Amino acid sequence: MYQDPYQRRYRKLRVSLTAACNYACTYCVPDGKKLLKAKHEMSVEQFIQAVSLIVESAGIEQLRITGGEPLLSNKLEAFLVGLKPLNIPELCLTTNGQFLEQKLPALLDAGVSRINVSLDTLDPVRFKEICRGGDLNVVLRGIDRAIESGVKLKINMVPLKQHNADQVVPMLEYCLERGIELRYIELMKMGHLAQGDGFLQEFWSMKSLLDQISERYDYAPTQAPVDSTAVRFQIPGKGEFGVIANESKPFCRSCSRLRLSSAGFIYGCLSNTRRHYIADLLSLERDKGLASMHQILTNAMKDKQDLNFTGETTVMKMIGG
Ligand code: 5AD
Repeated sequence: MYQDPYQRRYRKLRVSLTAACNYACTYCVPDGKKLLKAKHEMSVEQFIQAVSLIVESAGIEQLRITGGEPLLSNKLEAFLVGLKPLNIPELCLTTNGQFLEQKLPALLDAGVSRINVSLDTLDPVRFKEICRGGDLNVVLRGIDRAIESGVKLKINMVPLKQHNADQVVPMLEYCLERGIELRYIELMKMGHLAQGDGFLQEFWSMKSLLDQISERYDYAPTQAPVDSTAVRFQIPGKGEFGVIANESKPFCRSCSRLRLSSAGFIYGCLSNTRRHYIADLLSLERDKGLASMHQILTNAMKDKQDLNFTGETTVMKMIGG
């Protein structure tokens, strides 16, 4: 068991299936160039072996498939098949929704029970400005299909002062009308935002967005699970929403996440460039592989920050959110 002095342990594993993305969001990539997959991306067998060792070693309760954009990966279907025998209690996915409509049946068949769709605006012009790829109507169609399927759905929105702060209430209303939980994600100082003044130019705080919401709705805080990253609110008779207030209300003290990149690196913390290469231990005999993995997971736990998210040049695009 990897419990640190703050009683943190690993419960949630995020696997970035590919670093490639069909968006180039302004807060993720500075130059507008779409990301490509890693040069040395793991094979499906390696992904599965890595997850199997991590699950056995750390007792993972939830696996979230991320990217890049995970639905771009041609390894998705085989990865899902390979996960089946591992009996992970909960399978989740974060996607930008461009291929959600097509991939939904395969995801549901494989037992994916929660899907988070990233959507920052309902305005097609702003959408193009922020995402620099994809099509808004395609995402909205994917969301409709997901709602019809009954899968647990959330929408992630990153509010940006200059690009979509005016979408805070419209996005909330869109979600409330459809019974979906919206989660506003405060902008994080990652990648190019870790340096310079780009972060402050765009940062839109939890307080700012709650002020916008309070002009229309009464809301009250509700309970969130202990290791949840979100602060949650209820609008009586309408529904709930959450804020991932990384800056205003840091949650590092209860972080239970562990990340695996498509190139075979373990990251203990999103705000730390330290990473641990595991692809070469995957060919060891099971016992030896487990022993090496144990050592790596012990070290990765030390990479977590104590209190606050200080920001890092690590890029979300490589290792998922
Ligand atoms: N700050 C906040 N959220 C971010 N995401 C990507 N980069 C950042 C950032 N710098 C979000 C995406 C997606 C989720 C996986 O992470 O919008 O919803």
